[in-house]
Amino acid sequence: MKNIVLTGFMGTGKTEVGKLVAQKLGYKLIDVDSEIEKEKKMKITEIFKECGEPGFRKIESDVIRRLSDMDNAVIPAGGGAVLRQENMDNFRRKGVIVCLAASPETILKRTGNDSTRPLLQVDDPMKKIKELLELRKPYYEKADIMIDTEGKTPLQVAEEIIERVKSEG
Ligand code: S3P
Repeated sequence: MKNIVLTGFMGTGKTEVGKLVAQKLGYKLIDVDSEIEKEKKMKITEIFKECGEPGFRKIESDVIRRLSDMDNAVIPAGGGAVLRQENMDNFRRKGVIVCLAASPETILKRTGNDSTRPLLQVDDPMKKIKELLELRKPYYEKADIMIDTEGKTPLQVAEEIIERVKSEG
């Protein structure tokens, strides 16, 4: 079976669900953000501060290019990785792209107390979430498989991903 790439907005559960999918399939879990932090020996927030978002996107693309050569991997990507077509092309070389979706309310609940997401460190995070979701909608829709996570446990989402990838991937 192909690699499983998990995309979707911040707070849709990519990392948590990714762990479960990897466990169930006996696949490696390769989290793009963690790989970036390991490679640069810096936290994502520090990279944003030092290099800005464009600098971060460049590093993200370099790491994705390298990771996309792996086999038997579940690869949760950062929520903005979909914005660059080259990332999608690299992911697709060996993988099926699954996008997790959730409502703005759920996303706010899941990201609310978390200071590790520089893009949401604003006065009105709900407004920002809605704006970014609208802007990114056409990019998320490029995924091969779309999964609505609303009202589902991470385990249910993980099982649904495996089922859909087996039948459609
Ligand atoms: C980002 C999402 C983050 C991280 C960075 C930028 C985005 O990852 O890559 O803060 O642009 O949506 P998560 O989606 O894992 O939070």
